[in-house]
Amino acid sequence: MALKKATGKDKELQDRLLADGAIPQHIAIIMDGNGRWAKRRGMPRIAGHREGVNAVRDIVETCGQLGVKFLTLYAFSTENWKRPGDEVSMLMRLLLKALRDERDRLHQNEVRLKAIGNISALPQDVQDELLEAIDLMRNNTGLTLVLALSYSGRWDITNAVRKIHEDATAGKIAREQITEELFDTYLSTKEFPDPDLLIRTSGELRISNFLLWQLAYSEMYISPDFWPDFRRKSLYKAVSEYQKRERRFGMTSEQVRHTSSRGTKYFERLLKGVAKP
Ligand code: IPE
Ligand code: IPE
Ligand code: MG
Repeated sequence: MALKKATGKDKELQDRLLADGAIPQHIAIIMDGNGRWAKRRGMPRIAGHREGVNAVRDIVETCGQLGVKFLTLYAFSTENWKRPGDEVSMLMRLLLKALRDERDRLHQNEVRLKAIGNISALPQDVQDELLEAIDLMRNNTGLTLVLALSYSGRWDITNAVRKIHEDATAGKIAREQITEELFDTYLSTKEFPDPDLLIRTSGELRISNFLLWQLAYSEMYISPDFWPDFRRKSLYKAVSEYQKRERRFGMTSEQVRHTSSRGTKYFERLLKGVAKP
């Protein structure tokens, strides 16, 4: 199993990005605008969702080639259940088909698949296919692809609070032990670092109940492209924009410059409050 490499002009663009600065370790994307993409072409909304799968394929492959470690895709929100029944069921059919069609390619590209959200709310056949694909790819060491399905940030936080309450009642944790770090370990994203870069497509300026806790210090990039049009070139633009940002985490620009010259390890310790500026 080996990752398909970029070639020609595309390789040049990737090499330039890699030379220009740090590649975000974790990218999270709100894939939006499928319906409008289809409407513009006089097509039914589902046609936009279908074309969206092609965009997913391209972005997943590109992230793997760039060495992005985690990619979280918001594919279906808790609120999306409120859409017309036929759109919801077509989306579920499409998800099932995409999982079947893409499974081998993902596996070949060394992708490790994960899912977050209320998975038990999905149709049984989708759940089965999803868990099978996750199991197949569990030992892969390339990009970790996290699908957010029937997911919402408030759902995640509420769930965490419930589990913490359960463990507190059982005497497993004391009130004083409830810290931000502990809280993190009760979220569905516990195995993944917080996103460095959040991308939303289709020009909308909102979070729509995505990773509310985890996005605390993510850099945001809004693309005007509808999701079906968001291909590797759009991603290069987003990453290039990210590379120009200065992430300050509440500190001053001077502090950040001083500390980043002392290396990433020191910077991480500083953020955790272990080291002093
Ligand atoms: C995003 O595209 C896909 C899902 C939310 C499932 P939309 O379906 O929201 O497309 P627009 O926003 O209506 O154009
Ligand atoms: C957000 O898109 C959810 C996903 C991309 C899965 P929506 O299209 O559902 O968001 P709103 O309703 O416009 O905020
Ligand atoms: Mg939308």
